[in-house]
This record gives sequence, structure tokens and C-alpha cells, in this order.
Amino acid sequence: MIIGSIKENLSVEKRVALTPETAKNIINLGLKICIETNYASHIGITDEEFVKVGVEIKKTNNEVLNNCNLLIKVNCPSDDEIKNLKQKSILVGMLNPSQNKNKINELIKKNISIFSLELLPRITRAQSMDVLSSQSNLAGYRAVVDSIYEFEKAIPMMMTAAGTVPAAKVLVIGAGVAGLQAIATAKRLGAIVSATDVRSASKEQVESLGGKFLTVDNSEDMETSGGYAKEVSDDYKKKQAEMMQEALRKNDIVICTALVPGKSAPRILSEQLVKLMRPGSIIYDLAAEQGGNSAYSEPGKINIINGVKIIGVKTLMNRLPLTASSLYAKNLFSFIRNLYSREKRDFNINLEDEIISKTLIKEI
Ligand code: NAI
Repeated sequence: MIIGSIKENLSVEKRVALTPETAKNIINLGLKICIETNYASHIGITDEEFVKVGVEIKKTNNEVLNNCNLLIKVNCPSDDEIKNLKQKSILVGMLNPSQNKNKINELIKKNISIFSLELLPRITRAQSMDVLSSQSNLAGYRAVVDSIYEFEKAIPMMMTAAGTVPAAKVLVIGAGVAGLQAIATAKRLGAIVSATDVRSASKEQVESLGGKFLTVDNSEDMETSGGYAKEVSDDYKKKQAEMMQEALRKNDIVICTALVPGKSAPRILSEQLVKLMRPGSIIYDLAAEQGGNSAYSEPGKINIINGVKIIGVKTLMNRLPLTASSLYAKNLFSFIRNLYSREKRDFNINLEDEIISKTLIKEI
């Protein structure tokens, strides 16, 4: 059985699905691998590094698509790539099915088994494959680093002969994977950190990282049985806005990470709330591409309102493509290891396995 991978569209995606390290692990399972030439040279990984661990290099992406039984990708393939992909093969990636309906239908018509890793169940056995967690964790880290770059003051408290510099205050909205990493990173850099979330369970996690949890007064817990956030009521929004008024006046940097699965991002910071922040403050909106947690946030832009910089994130993983690829490729390896049967020497699409049945796209 042959695993293939081809270059992504470099104008939008710098991550790759295969690294020499994971290629070696896949080959050790008894599988073969082919990739197109210069597959990862844009992030400094040469063809020779892949060849050294046993990967075959093809001159064109067509040769890969015609040969492989399972294609690994970061994003959904292009229309031309889908045309050239072998009938009845397997595709694994972050395929964003709701945004790629036509392509998914074409793939289904070709009898290709499509696995989209954003659909993984959040169960213990799937943790090593959890692409949402591996990428969100990096996003939380990078959000703090980028905000600090834009912030024109120092972060830690410094006592110098010339006087004391106060520590910067960072507020994190949404304490999921990205939010918790943002709290940890901001703490390490010396900021005074607070955070809020609609799930009461996150209070303990925030506090364990040294953050102060800001509770919305008299509010119910908004956690679903699956551990995710529910969409909040108008009453909750009002109380949350009241709590935010004081918090925004005090904080220098706000990192927004709030999301509700299957919905556009909740709007938490209204225009009036943004205007309460002091000039020179930063709002870094990780949810910008999903609709934005903050007013004035636009993906890929920095808008300045009353001296407050509102940074809307776009394709953040392209700012740390090596680390993001390394973790994503490891997630993919764990998924492939679970899908491949060494005894049968074939991929085993066992629908009784929750990991397989939940990630397989049957219809759209
Ligand atoms: P996410 O990226 O979907 O959302 C980010 C955070 O925003 C969540 O904590 C959510 O509660 C919060 N949020 C939503 N609406 C909000 C609002 N209006 N105001 C303030 N905060 C709001 O979250 P992520 O990182 O995917 O985590 C969601 C859940 O999944 C958590 O319970 C987490 O512990 C769990 N999880 C489980 C994993 C596993 O078992 N393998 C792996 C990763 C996460």
C-alpha cells in the first residue's frame, strides 16, 4: 500500500502533511510513501531528507495522485487534483466539508473514502490524532507573541534604577485549548493574566495556570454534555458585557478565542466595549475568520479605533509552519496507524471504530 502527499497551494498554506520523522514511522508500519519533488523545500526540508528515510520522490503531483492508495493533505485538494486522484483511494486531511461541498461530492462520485480530521471525536484514544488541539495550542501561543510585538510597552514588571515598570495585564476570552495556552504563555512572559469562559469547568484550569477567572454574575453553566460551549442567551450576553466593562478598562491586551461548534463566533466585544479600552491597547481576535469575537475585527487586518489596535487573524499557522506541520504530521501518523491493518496489509475501514466512523464523510 502506498501513501502519497503533494504540495499544498503555497499562496494560502505553508504547512505540509508529512515530515521525514513521520515518513519513517509510516514506513516502519510496512507502508510505502511517494511525494512530489520539492514537497517541503519552502519550509527548509529537502527532498534528500525524505529520500534518506525511504520516501520515493516523483517529478509531478500527477504521478503521486495516480499511484497512491491513500493521499494525505493539509487542505482539500484542488479540482484538477481530484480529477487525477485514483478511483477508490482514500483521502485524509482537514477538508472543511461545509466550505468544500462541490469538491466533496466529486470525491464521493469517484468512490474515494474521505476522512476529515476536524470531525474526530474528543475521546482519550483520539487525543494523539486531535488536529484541532495541536493547531489551537500553537495558535494560543502565537497570539500572545504577536500581540506583544504590536504592544508598545514592556510586559513583565521591572524594577530599575530609573523607576518601576508595571506588568502588563492580559485578558483571555475563551479558555479552551488556545485560550489555556495563551494564558500559560502570557504568564511565562510576566503578564498579570485573567480569563473568562462560559463553561464553569474551565475556572479550575485557568487558576491552575496562575490566571484569575472572571465569572459572569448569576449565570448558569453553558457546557454541553460533550464538553463544548452552548450559544449563550441574551440575558447572559448582557451580564457578560457588564463584567467586561470593568475588565476592559483595566487590561492592556485582550486575546479572543471564543468559539461555539457549528456556529459563527460569538460577538462578545461590541463597538462600545472596544472604545472603553485605553489607547495603545491590543485586541487580538483569533476568531476573526469565524466571524470575530470583537467589533472592528477583520481577518488579515489591523484596524485602529481610538488608538486601540484590533488585530484580526488570518492563516495564523503560516507563521509557524514548521512546528504546525510537525504536530499535524504526527496527528496524521496516529490516524493512519489506527486505519492500517498490518495483518491484512490493507486499510481497514471498520465502521465500528468511533474514530473511523465519525471522521468518514459519507454524504454531504
Ligand atoms: P473551542 O476552540 O471550540 O472554543 C474556545 C472556548 O471558547 C471554549 O472553551 C468555549 O467554552 C469558549 N466560549 C464559547 N463561547 C463563549 C462566550 N460567549 N464567552 C466566553 N467563552 C466562550 O474550544 P476547544 O479548545 O476545542 O475546547 C472545547 C472543549 O473540548 C473543552 O471542554 C475542552 O476541554 C475539550 N477538549 C477535549 C479534548 C480531548 O478530550 N481530546 C481535546 C481538546 C479539547
